[in-house]
Amino acid sequence: MAYYSDEIIEEVRSRTDIVEVISQYVNLQKKGTQYFGLCPFHNEKTGSFSVSPQKQMYYCFGCGAGGNVFSFLMAYENMTFKEAVEELAPKCGVTLPQREMTYQEKQRADKRSRLFEINKEAAGYYYKMLRSDAGKQAMDYFNKRGLTPDTMHKFGLGCTSKYSDSLYKYLREKGYEDEILKDCGLITIDEKRGGHDKFWNRAMFPIFDANGKVVAFGGRVMGDGEPKYLNSPETEIFNKSKTLFGLYFARKTRREQFILCEGYMDVISLHQAGFDNAVASLGTALTEGHAGMLKRYVKDVYLSYDSDGAGQKAALRAIPILKNAGISCRVINMSPYKDPDEFIKALGAEEYEKRIAQAENSFMYQVRMLQNNYDMTDPEKKSDFQKEAARMIVTEFPTQLERENYTESVAARFNIPRDALAKYILELGQSGITAKKDNSNRQYEAKPGKPKDDGMKMSQRLLLTWLVEEATLYSKIKEFVGPDDFEDGVYKQVATEVFKYCEANQPVDTARIVDLFMEDDERKTVAALFNTTVGELTDSSDLSKALKETLLRIKKNSLELAQKNGANLRSLVEGKKKLQRLERIEISI
Ligand code: CTP
Ligand code: MN
Repeated sequence: MAYYSDEIIEEVRSRTDIVEVISQYVNLQKKGTQYFGLCPFHNEKTGSFSVSPQKQMYYCFGCGAGGNVFSFLMAYENMTFKEAVEELAPKCGVTLPQREMTYQEKQRADKRSRLFEINKEAAGYYYKMLRSDAGKQAMDYFNKRGLTPDTMHKFGLGCTSKYSDSLYKYLREKGYEDEILKDCGLITIDEKRGGHDKFWNRAMFPIFDANGKVVAFGGRVMGDGEPKYLNSPETEIFNKSKTLFGLYFARKTRREQFILCEGYMDVISLHQAGFDNAVASLGTALTEGHAGMLKRYVKDVYLSYDSDGAGQKAALRAIPILKNAGISCRVINMSPYKDPDEFIKALGAEEYEKRIAQAENSFMYQVRMLQNNYDMTDPEKKSDFQKEAARMIVTEFPTQLERENYTESVAARFNIPRDALAKYILELGQSGITAKKDNSNRQYEAKPGKPKDDGMKMSQRLLLTWLVEEATLYSKIKEFVGPDDFEDGVYKQVATEVFKYCEANQPVDTARIVDLFMEDDERKTVAALFNTTVGELTDSSDLSKALKETLLRIKKNSLELAQKNGANLRSLVEGKKKLQRLERIEISI
């Protein structure tokens, strides 16, 4: 259900210069026909992020983020498609049609931005309250916990009043109706009693999304009392399992590791002590969604969970989730203190820095935690533990190299006879036990269950990119290869579009093709597809050779597939003839 017509959308896109827009966020430098900079979607030190003025697309060779100017704003500014169009239209002089909307339509259309507004209003209200007479108790509480005014300001800390409807009244005065207030997460509307606040008499922690917009709150009782923390429920703008407290600040550090802890106060104390790369999941265990968010920015995480039993359990649960997302982690030991907040208060930042340096390899941590379950004075239990440790090594690590290294370390660390352990591991391996998965190659796009990008796709991408960049190519290849020779799905759809432009003798509008795909993953695929490089081939005979090989591979592959799928004889013969001809001739570029 499109809101604006394709024509309007195209008008906005074609009048907008993607380089200009992205330059407002990323420092871009021109190299050749492209612009390069540091990718805003993951942390990096060398620029793998490229913007092409010709294609009006961006693409990151590091993390695979890519798309057109609309997808950029959607990803970076957390906008919807419609919001991105509305953001750009006035800047390029396009007047968007104002159609008469019904009351409901209007409500729905504005809802997300109104929810952002309300959360921002509330944050301002709580912030002022903390700094007024009514906020004295909360201010004393924060002071007692050692927070400086700067820290309170940075995190936008605030408090609620003692009355159970003061925010509600405030927001009503600001003109917000019950209709929207009931969905903002801060207000409960009761048929009989009317509206009242979800949070009262609490110290308030606003929760920012990755772009610094307030999307929710956590509220703490001042002192003892239950529940200790109350959090906004999920709303249309707040997805708990994708939100990390502190991420907005942590991502701006561009550090290569984050510190992951459990609580609001842990994050705040760490930032105050200079560890401004600390983040926490919010009152929920770490989810795959969180891990995916983390992966956008870092490859390594230091776990700084509570040192008590619950914290250890949480760490053991988090480690495999992080590993699955391709993040390697180390565990910081905080003993004898309970959490980073208490640790820093007691021993200071320097000591914490040392603990970071000493952080334990997550696998060694897992084995150590396992050992706690066994009575090591009993030879039987001791053997059980050692066997289990061996099994863990085999199931965790697919390569001989890793297995041997970990055998070495585990034997030394847990006092296990090295040779016996190695032998047992070998036997386990021979008995058919294997690693859960080959995670030696977990690169950026290694999503579980997704087949690896093979050489065939690479060839298809190459040809499509080539067609876009080299207008004269089409006439030379069209007799051999067509859209049907491309892989089903995104590739074939894109090929169909590209061939259409070529046939009409028009430059390929790559940015427009992106908009045919609504799913983020698909857009990324399209961006990757148009950003394949022909490598170092500059010599024209090399290029001709590469082109011929590419065409041959694509054609052979599609013929094989057609045969397997029982295509009709005539089309097979037809295809074979083309292939044979292709093999004989010279194509020059
Ligand atoms: N939490 C929650 N609801 C609770 C208790 C905890 O949502 N009733 C979440 C909060 O996000 C909290 C985190 O779990 O920050 C960790 O809880 P805990 O270790 O109990 O709190 P601390 O962060 O240590 O809080 P404080 O230092 O303020 O006691
Ligand atoms: Mn604490």
